Amino acid sequence: MMLEPDAAARGFARLVFPARPAGTNHTRLQLWFVNIQASDLAVPDTSERLASPVLCEMKTAVVSGTGTRHGLGRGILHAFLQEGWRCVGIDISQHQEEQTDPVLQAHQQQYKFIQADISDEKQVQTAIQEASSFLQRSINCLVNNAGIAQPYLEGNHSQRIQSWQNYIATNLSGAFLMSEACLPFMPHGDASIVHISSVRAHFSEPNSEGYGSAKAGLIGLTRAQAVSLAQHARVNAILPGWIDTSGGSMELTKQDTDWHPVGRIGAPKDIAQAVLFLADSSKAGFITGQELTIDGGVTAKLVYPE
Ligand SMILES: NC(=O)c1ccc[n+]([C@@H]2O[C@H](COP(=O)([O-])OP(=O)(O)OC[C@H]3O[C@@H](n4cnc5c(N)ncnc54)[C@H](O)[C@@H]3O)[C@@H](O)[C@H]2O)c1
Repeated sequence: MMLEPDAAARGFARLVFPARPAGTNHTRLQLWFVNIQASDLAVPDTSERLASPVLCEMKTAVVSGTGTRHGLGRGILHAFLQEGWRCVGIDISQHQEEQTDPVLQAHQQQYKFIQADISDEKQVQTAIQEASSFLQRSINCLVNNAGIAQPYLEGNHSQRIQSWQNYIATNLSGAFLMSEACLPFMPHGDASIVHISSVRAHFSEPNSEGYGSAKAGLIGLTRAQAVSLAQHARVNAILPGWIDTSGGSMELTKQDTDWHPVGRIGAPKDIAQAVLFLADSSKAGFITGQELTIDGGVTAKLVYPE
């Protein structure tokens, strides 16, 4: 438990409790409360927050897979930062170009990058501990976006087996590991988890067993967590269709765009806006356990052979 420093500075006390321990019944909760030490009331090192009381009111998010310049994760990160959220981006590799990303540069105070492999439990635990201290021990939203984005199994038999295992470890288990690590910091009733799945969870091309299974698994995870985390966190999945992550360098044909009922390919901001909506309990507070397809209408079409 901590005394909110901005509250202290303004002359009134507002106590912030850590997440209630899992499975705590009423009696145990009372004991837990009684056992709170005076030292718990100490105001933590919060010079930055005292200098900027606005930070105290900020919502906070952890977004995985933010490493690529024009990828979905970076787009989601930009949207959160521009809406005034305090954010941690996590990726297996840090790209030097972060230094020249104007949005990240403009929001340096609000943003921290942490390098970690989301398929490795120890790395995830360490990263989320570090993230939670930057985010003042409160995580309102976790976006599980990191993943192997190329959907096809390739190579010989043993390479295909290894590739399958990599898809499951990163694209599915990674989301569960990240959720488990973040949950102790997610405030009951104002927490949201968004899994970035894919339309390929439901529709497929040859040789996408690993990717398709992991993305379909995220939908099962969404429903299971929505029930397990009732009244703690809302959990939803977004299923993007074709999103242009080339930053405009990909040459698109008229056929590519016309294939979409909306007449264009998706952009990272199409996904980012939906994430922002699902993250906001005041707007999406009655939505949990759902999948939201964002594909320009492609999967709504009934296609006959030519
Ligand atoms: N772009 C699309 O059309 C599209 C469509 C449907 C779903 N998606 C999904 O959206 C997400 C982002 O895709 P994208 O197109 O921006 O691809 P991307 O490759 O640009 O982004 C994926 C990011 O995840 C990171 N990553 C991969 N493995 C990791 C690991 N083990 N630990 C930590 N970080 C790791 C990568 O370094 C990369 O920065 C992916 O989950 C992808 O499957 C994308």
